[in-house]
Amino acid sequence: MTDVDHDPPGCTLVVFGGAGDLTRRLLLPALLNLAAEGRLPERFALVGYGRTDLDDETYRERLDDAVREHASRSLDPALWSALRPRVRWVRGHFDEPDAYARLGQTLAEIGGAALGGGCSLFYLACPPRFFADVARQLGAAGLAGDEGGHRRRLVVEKPFGRDLASARQLNRTLLEVFGESQLFRIDHYLGKETVQNILAFRFANGFFEPIWNRRYVDSVQITVAEVLGVEGRGNYFERAGTLRDMVPNHLFQVLTLIAMEPPSSLGADAVRDEKAKVLRSVPTWTPEQVADDAVRAQYGPGRIASGEEVPGYTGEPSVDPASRTETYAALHLRIDSWRWAGVPFYLRTGKRLSRRASEVVVRFRRAPLQLFRDTPAVSGLDSNQLVLRLQPREGIALRFDVKRPGPEMTLGKVDMDFCYSEYFGETAATGYETLLRDAMRGDATLFQRADNVEEGWRVVQPVLDAWEAERSAPLPSYPAGSDGPGAADALLARDGRQWNPIA
Ligand code: BG6
Repeated sequence: MTDVDHDPPGCTLVVFGGAGDLTRRLLLPALLNLAAEGRLPERFALVGYGRTDLDDETYRERLDDAVREHASRSLDPALWSALRPRVRWVRGHFDEPDAYARLGQTLAEIGGAALGGGCSLFYLACPPRFFADVARQLGAAGLAGDEGGHRRRLVVEKPFGRDLASARQLNRTLLEVFGESQLFRIDHYLGKETVQNILAFRFANGFFEPIWNRRYVDSVQITVAEVLGVEGRGNYFERAGTLRDMVPNHLFQVLTLIAMEPPSSLGADAVRDEKAKVLRSVPTWTPEQVADDAVRAQYGPGRIASGEEVPGYTGEPSVDPASRTETYAALHLRIDSWRWAGVPFYLRTGKRLSRRASEVVVRFRRAPLQLFRDTPAVSGLDSNQLVLRLQPREGIALRFDVKRPGPEMTLGKVDMDFCYSEYFGETAATGYETLLRDAMRGDATLFQRADNVEEGWRVVQPVLDAWEAERSAPLPSYPAGSDGPGAADALLARDGRQWNPIA
C-alpha cells in the first residue's frame, strides 16, 4: 500500500465526457455525498472536458440541474454552493493537442502541481473509442507523469475492451503513458457496500472459513437479475450483449471475492493477486464445453413486475428487429483449485427478469447421515444455504431446517436474516463515493489490475467466439418478467440441482 496517500490535501478531478450522464447522475452526487461527510479534499476542483459548446458558467448551470435531479434529497445546498465556483469547463475534441494545452493551463490556474502534494485524477467517462487518444494526448501534453509530490492518475470506466485482444491492446496503450500504479480501472460493483462486504464477511470472521471449500460446499450460484430492459441503450447493447456487458466484469468481481484465497494483507496487490489466481484456475473452454455449459437467450414481450406490458428486445428502439444479441447469459464454471475442485459455480444474469435481485447462494452439502429422511418436511429436505444479498434489501441470510412446533417431528426451513438498512439505517450513496475517494488516495484495492481484466476476457472469449460462429443456430427466448429461459434450468437440472427462485 505504499502508493496510498492518506487524504490528499488537494485534488482536481478532470472528467473526459464531463457533460455526459455519468457525471450528472453518479459522479457529482457522489462528490457531494463525500463533501457532506467531510471527505472531499479541502482544495478540490472539478474540470469537465468534452466536445459540447459550453463555458465555465453554462457548465455549472447544467450541473445545477443535475444537483436538483440526482443529488441526495437531504443534501445541504451550501455544499454545492461552495463547490460550484471550483467547477471549470474545457472544450475540445479528445484527440486535439491544442485542447490539452488549454487543459494544462486550466489546471495550472487551479493550482494543481504548483500547490505541492495532492493529485490530478483524469477520469475517462467518454466513449471508449477515445480512451487511447486521451491517454496519449495527456502524455504528449506532459500531464501524465507525477510531478514533485503531485500525483497524476487515470480512472478508466468500463467497458475495458470488447474482447481479449482489444483489452490487451488498450492495456498496452495505457501502460505506454501511465504506470500500472497510476491506473484505476473501474468496476462499479466494487463500489457496492455488499460486494466489499464479501471480503469482510469471509476474512474478518473465523466461523465460515473452515467450511468454505469443496468438502462442505455443494455448489455456488451467482445471480444478477434486472427488471430493466435496455433503456434506450439499444445502440450500445446491440454491440455488447449481456455476456460482455456483465460477466467478465461485474459477475467475475463477485465470483473472485467468493472464491479467492485469503490475501496476505488488504493491500491492493495482495488482494488482486488472489483474485487473478481464481480466474487463472478457470480452464479455457473448448467449443464443446461452451455448448454444454453456456446458455444465452433474448427476452420476448411480456408483463413485468409493475404489471406493465413491455415489448421484446427486438421491439426496443435502436435494436435490429432480427437481432440475435443475448439479453441473458448463464454459465457453469469450474475452478480447478485445491479449494474448489468439483464444486460447480453457476452464474446467471439477464435483463427483463421477474425481479431486480443480485445475490450469491452458497449451498452446503447435506448432513452426512439422513436421520430425518422419513420425517415430513414442509419445504423439502434441502441443503443449508448462505445467501449474500447484494441488492436490493442488502443483507445476509442463513437458511436451515428446524423442527416446527407441535407434537409431530416436522421440519421447516427458516432464515437467520441480517439486513443492512435495519441494522445500520439507510445511507445516501451512489456507490461511487468509495471508488472516487480511493482513487484520490491512490488505493487501488477496489480497482481492476491489467491481468485481472485480461483473465476475465480470457475466460469468456471462447463463449464469445462460439456464439459469434453460431449465427444461424436458434436463439432461445424467455418472456419479459419471467425467471429466464428453460435452458438455464436444464443447465442445473442435469446436475440434479436447481436455481433459487429470483426473489
Ligand atoms: C452496467 C451495465 O455496467 O451495470 C448495465 O452496462 C447494467 O447494462 C448495470 O444494467 C447494472 O448495474 P446495477 O448497479 O444496477 O446492478
